[in-house]
Amino acid sequence: MDKQIQIGKIKILICQDKEEVARVAADIFAQSIRKKPDIVLGLATGGTPVGMYQELIRTHRDEGLDFSQVKSFNLDEYLGLGGDHNQSYRYFMNENLFDHVNIDKSNTRVPDGKAADLQSSCKKYEDDIKAAGGIGLQLLGIGSNGHIAFNEPGSAGGSRTRVVNLTERTIKDNARFFKDESEIPRQAVTMGIGTILEARKIVLLATGSNKADAVARAVKGKVSPDLPVSFLQKHPGCTFIVDREAAGEL
Ligand code: PGA
Repeated sequence: MDKQIQIGKIKILICQDKEEVARVAADIFAQSIRKKPDIVLGLATGGTPVGMYQELIRTHRDEGLDFSQVKSFNLDEYLGLGGDHNQSYRYFMNENLFDHVNIDKSNTRVPDGKAADLQSSCKKYEDDIKAAGGIGLQLLGIGSNGHIAFNEPGSAGGSRTRVVNLTERTIKDNARFFKDESEIPRQAVTMGIGTILEARKIVLLATGSNKADAVARAVKGKVSPDLPVSFLQKHPGCTFIVDREAAGEL
């Protein structure tokens, strides 16, 4: 690791490259699972966490990291995509982690993008997180526009799991995963900022120079709904793990 710095309450680990980000982050998750085998994890999708998930799969295979009692809640899901759709976040989680470790799939939750009654499904998601004892360790990425999960600019600090509209910027950022931009859902179900802030510990990963501006504003900018990630400045247990490119001039 290059260096560790602290800005306000946020601890920032600056790594040489995205491979080191993946290793350092996986190590934190592996240690937390070993310490509390029935830990409740908050999990994220996107390009950034893939390397960390690969490292956790390797740790399971080579070192016997045991997921059998782990519970998980994912941050978000596209509205209208079922788990069998190859761009749904349920599908992503199965492909990138769950199918390769000994987690009990019935202990893994992703918001239901096809719920008939979305409002009560969102409320139940919140209730189920509480009933599980709350999230012990939450993984986050960061959008180039400063979103966390699908809490886009304008999201309130106390927001809860709900249906949201995606911004044009997020739709463009995520277009690379779809064959055609017109296929990208325009809405999603996401945990709220209030939901995320209740996690006991938070780890945010960012790699690449296109995240440098959002990372700098996240730790140094004014706390405001204009920049949803800035609410993490209020959390007592938040660590950013970034590569040199995403660290920019920090
Ligand atoms: P990415 O997405 O990891 O695909 O860059 C991060 C995010 O939007 O939270």
